[in-house]
Amino acid sequence: MNYRHGFHAGNFADVLKHVVLARILLHLAAKDKPYRLIDTHAGAGRYDLGSDEALRTHEWRDGVARLAQSPLAPAVEELLAPWREAVAAAREAHGSSAYPGSPWICRHAMRAEDRLIAAELHDNTFRKLSEALGRDRRCKALEIDGWTALRANVPPKERRGLVLIDPPFEERDEFATMAQAVIEAHRKWASGIYALWYPLKDRDGAEAMLDALLEAGIGRLLRLEIEVDRPEAAGGLGATGMLLINPPWRLAEEAQILLPALAERLAQGPRPRYRCEPIRPDG
Ligand SMILES: C[S@@+](CC[C@H](N)C(=O)[O-])C[C@H]1O[C@@H](n2cnc3c(N)ncnc32)[C@H](O)[C@@H]1O
Repeated sequence: MNYRHGFHAGNFADVLKHVVLARILLHLAAKDKPYRLIDTHAGAGRYDLGSDEALRTHEWRDGVARLAQSPLAPAVEELLAPWREAVAAAREAHGSSAYPGSPWICRHAMRAEDRLIAAELHDNTFRKLSEALGRDRRCKALEIDGWTALRANVPPKERRGLVLIDPPFEERDEFATMAQAVIEAHRKWASGIYALWYPLKDRDGAEAMLDALLEAGIGRLLRLEIEVDRPEAAGGLGATGMLLINPPWRLAEEAQILLPALAERLAQGPRPRYRCEPIRPDG
């Protein structure tokens, strides 16, 4: 297990993932009932964009730093606000080069009655995660395999909430593992929101995962993707996506506003693209 998210924190893929996460959290808080969050691959909780790791790749320069250049159109800014607010809060608490990871964004959005379970297997990263979550009794950090954590914690007693699945994609069969884990979890908790992050190096893998979910009878899907048109010679990631199961009902509409603006602002070549596609089992 070599993956260190510190090299990639705040890059364009993190921006898409965290903007969508912040929107889902906002929608969950619209109802008066408590929710449960399960972050299966939680990472360190917060990152320092001035660290050696972040400065080695500078990926954040084509990510979060682009969003700081100038405001986007008012309708886009309105939708970005919960994410921008989390980034600003992390910076206020931890300095101007801080960048909040998914558990930090969750914790920031949670109300007194909401709960977070955050699993992280890498020991050093787990220590950072525990520190980032502090003594907050609403949050539980677990140093265990994320797939095991998912199996053990669905359905949550609140019966409403979100599972964020953001594995490192170091294993060749990660898409299949993700599909299997989600199918199993969905059998036990069909009404939960599931947000599955993936890199788009291997479109076949992403398509096979989608097919597997559809075959298992999982409906109400939303596929969100952006391609930043990174020159091939530059290597690295050029496209990313999220597959959402049971997305909050306004999310597709919001993504139609957000994604073109994000793709354009995060572009690394002349032809950025995006995809915002509700998918139903009957096609
Ligand atoms: C992409 S990063 C997570 C980033 C985080 N979700 C965020 O958005 O801030 C993936 C994390 O999964 C951890 N990891 C790898 N295999 C794991 C496993 N089987 N179970 C739990 N965590 C794992 C890695 O150490 C890494 O910190």
